Amino acid sequence: MPDGWPYGDSPFHKGEQQVQERLGVRDRIESFARRVVRDAMPDQHRQFYAELPFVMLGTVDDRGRPWASLVPGRPGFMTSPDAGALEVAAGPLFGDPLHGTLKPGADVGVLGIQFETRRRNRMVGTISSVEPGRFAITVAQAFGNCPQYIQTRALEMLPEIDEGARKRPVGRADRFDRRTRALIERADTLFIATAYSKHSDTASQGADVSHRGGSPGFVRVEDDRTFVFPDFSGNNHFNTVGNIVVNPKAGFLFVDFEAGDLVYMTGEAEIVWEGEEVDAFAGAERLIRFRAEEVVRVEDSLPLRFDFGEYSPMLEHTGSWAQAAQTIAAENERNVYLPYEICDIQPESEVITSFYLRRADGKTPARHEPGQFLPIRLTIPGQDDPLIRTYTLSDASNANHYRLSIKREGGDALVSNHFHDHLKKGDRLEAMAPRGKFVLDGSSNRPVVLVSAGVGLTPMIAMTNHLINEGLRTRNFRRTYFIHGARNGRALAFGDHVRGLAAEHDSLTVHLRLSRPEETDRLGETYHSEGHVDVELMKSLLPFDDYDFYLCGPQPFMQELYDGLTALGVRDDRIHYESFGPATVLKHDGGPKRASPLGTPVEGPVSVCFADSDVEAKWSPDKGTLLELAEAAGLNPAFSCRSGVCGTCVTRLRCGKVDYIEEPVAPHGDHDVLICCATPRSSAGDATCGEDQGVVLEL
Ligand SMILES: Cc1cc2nc3c(=O)[nH]c(=O)nc-3n(C[C@H](O)[C@H](O)[C@H](O)COP(=O)(O)OP(=O)(O)OC[C@H]3O[C@@H](n4cnc5c(N)ncnc54)[C@H](O)[C@@H]3O)c2cc1C
Ligand code: FES
Repeated sequence: MPDGWPYGDSPFHKGEQQVQERLGVRDRIESFARRVVRDAMPDQHRQFYAELPFVMLGTVDDRGRPWASLVPGRPGFMTSPDAGALEVAAGPLFGDPLHGTLKPGADVGVLGIQFETRRRNRMVGTISSVEPGRFAITVAQAFGNCPQYIQTRALEMLPEIDEGARKRPVGRADRFDRRTRALIERADTLFIATAYSKHSDTASQGADVSHRGGSPGFVRVEDDRTFVFPDFSGNNHFNTVGNIVVNPKAGFLFVDFEAGDLVYMTGEAEIVWEGEEVDAFAGAERLIRFRAEEVVRVEDSLPLRFDFGEYSPMLEHTGSWAQAAQTIAAENERNVYLPYEICDIQPESEVITSFYLRRADGKTPARHEPGQFLPIRLTIPGQDDPLIRTYTLSDASNANHYRLSIKREGGDALVSNHFHDHLKKGDRLEAMAPRGKFVLDGSSNRPVVLVSAGVGLTPMIAMTNHLINEGLRTRNFRRTYFIHGARNGRALAFGDHVRGLAAEHDSLTVHLRLSRPEETDRLGETYHSEGHVDVELMKSLLPFDDYDFYLCGPQPFMQELYDGLTALGVRDDRIHYESFGPATVLKHDGGPKRASPLGTPVEGPVSVCFADSDVEAKWSPDKGTLLELAEAAGLNPAFSCRSGVCGTCVTRLRCGKVDYIEEPVAPHGDHDVLICCATPRSSAGDATCGEDQGVVLEL
C-alpha cells in the first residue's frame, strides 16, 4: 500500500481548509497530512481495531442531524478483510439513534480508542452493508490520532456484552434533565459527531466522530439546552471545527463510565473564535457552544465499565471554567492592589531567590504574558509609607501562583534586601495585575534569541518556559537560543533548569557564559564559555538567519549588544529590550541618546491641578517631574521605576498637555500621563482648559 494520500485533491474539504487558513497552518498541515492520511488502513490500524472492545461511530440521520454512537463487542468483533474494509460483528445498542442511521451508502466516521493506552485511530468511510447483528464499512480516509487529553481508564467487560439489543429504559427530551446536566458538568471526556454533506465524491467529505477531553468541569452547562467547552490545541486537521463552519449540525455522546448510562444528543454547534472567555480559559484556542434539539438517555446501556486511572498530563496546561471566571474577575480588578501571600521560597543562586505568591483570598490571579512584571506594594518597618516595586514574573505558567526571582541588591536597597532578609512563608504583600509590553511576539515564527545578564534573566526564563510549554501543547517548537552571562557559578541562577530543558528539547540551545569562573565551575558542564556576553559570541553561536532578539540586563550591556546587532544589519524592530533600572533608550542616531535635561519644554510657571486631591501647585523647571511636583505638594502617588518603564504612575490627564523628558517605555493611553517622566506644557491658548488652567490631572 502506498504511504500517504494518493490523490491530487486535498485530503481536506473547504471548511477544514478555511479554518487551517484562518489559523495560519494551511500549508504546513496540507503537506503533513499528505504524508499521514491514507485512503486505506495501514496494517497497524487493522490490528488495532481487532483488539478493541468498542468502537465510536458518527452518522447522520434522515434530517441531516449527526449522532455519535458507541458499539461494543468482544475483542475480535471488528475485523478487516482488506485494507479498505472494516467489518463489525455487532449492532447498535438498544435506544441508540444508530438504529435509524445505519444504512448502506451512509457516511460514517469511525474512532477506535483505547483508554488504557491512550491510543486512537480515525477513519472516514461509508457503510457498505448492513445485516442483522453486523455491518461493514468501506474506508475513504484513515489516519492516526495522538493521545492528547485522553484520561486512562481500565476496562471491564460485563456478562451482558452480547446482549446490546436488550431493552433498557429510554428517556427522550428536547433538553437536559437534572441527571444529564450533572453528567455533562462532571464529564472529563465527550464524543462529538459532525458532518460535511456530500456535494461531490471526494474522500475529504463525510461524517466524523471525535474525542474531546479536559479536567472535570471543562464543559459548562449554560441552560437546559446549551453547553460550551474549550477546544484545545489538536492535530491541526480541524475535522470537527472545519465541519462546523460549513455545517453547524452536531451530535454528542456523554458516557457515564461508572453507571453505564449513555446520553446521545443532536443539535447545532457554533465556534466562538475569540473573546475574554477564550483568553481566560487556560489552553483554550476557541470555544465550541452547542444547543441541543433532541436528547436521548438510555439507562444502564453500556455492557462495559471503566475504572478511572489518571488524567492526561496535557491537562496541566489547561484550566477550568471556575478558574476562567476568576481570571476574568481578576482582569476587572487589574488596577487595584490585592493581598497576596508568600507560599514558597526557593534559593536560585547566592544572590537570587524565588518568592512564590498566591492570592490571599485563594482566587486565581490574573493571567500574564511571559516577560511581564508584577507591581508590588509592601510595608517595611521604619518606612513611613508602603513601597512599590516591579518584579518580572519568572515563570510562564498561569497557575495559581506567581513567581518572582529577586536579586539581593545589598547596601541600602530597601525592598530586595527586605525580601531576602525578612520575608518568609505566610507573609503578605499587595500586588496589582501583571503588566508590561516586554513580551514575546507570539505572532512571529522566527527563531528567538534571549540574551540576558545578571538578574535580567528573569523574563528570559519565563519566555523559555513558555516556548517549551507551547511546543508541548501545540507540538510546534519554536527555535530558541538562551544566552546568559553571570559572574560565576555562585551567582548564576536557573543554570540546571535551562540546561535540563535544553537536554530534553532540541529546539532550545543554551549558552551560559561566566565572566569570572571559579574552580568549582566546570567548563563544558556547568557553563559553556568564559567572558562577557557580546556580539562576537552571538556571531559564533547563531547560524545566519532572521531572528527576534530579546535583551535584558544592565544598560551598558544592552547598549553594546544593540549597537553590535544593528551594525550587523539586524533590523531595529527585531530587537526588543527591557531595563530594570532607569529608562534606557537604546535606539539612536549615531550615538546613545541621553534623556534631555528636565525643564527644557517650558520656561515659565505652569499651574497644575491635582483634581481628585483638590490640590493646586505651580510647576517650574526646577520642580522636576509631575510626580516630584505631586510629592512636594504632599501627595503620595503610586510609582515604582520612576523611569517610564513600569506604568505604575499612569495618571489620567483631564486637560492640558505634557512633554516627556525621556521616551516612556510603559504602555499608556492617549489621555494618560506617566507622571514620573513627564513635565507640564503651558496650556495658554488651549480653549478646552480655560484661561491659565494649565494641566489638570486625576490624582
Ligand atoms: C520592569 C522591571 C522589572 C524588574 N524585574 C526584576 C526582577 O525580576 N528581579 C529583580 O531582582 N529586580 C527586578 N527589578 C528591579 C526592582 O524593581 C528593584 O528596582 C530592585 O529590586 C531594587 O529595589 P530596592 O527597593 O531593593 O532598592 P532601592 O531601595 O530602590 O535602591 C536601589 C539602589 O539604590 C541604592 N540606594 C538605596 N538607597 C540609597 C541611598 N540613600 N544612597 C545611595 N544609594 C542608595 C541601593 O543600594 C540600590 O542599589 C525590575 C525593575 C523593573 C523596572
Ligand atoms: S513609576 Fe514606573 S512608569 Fe512611572
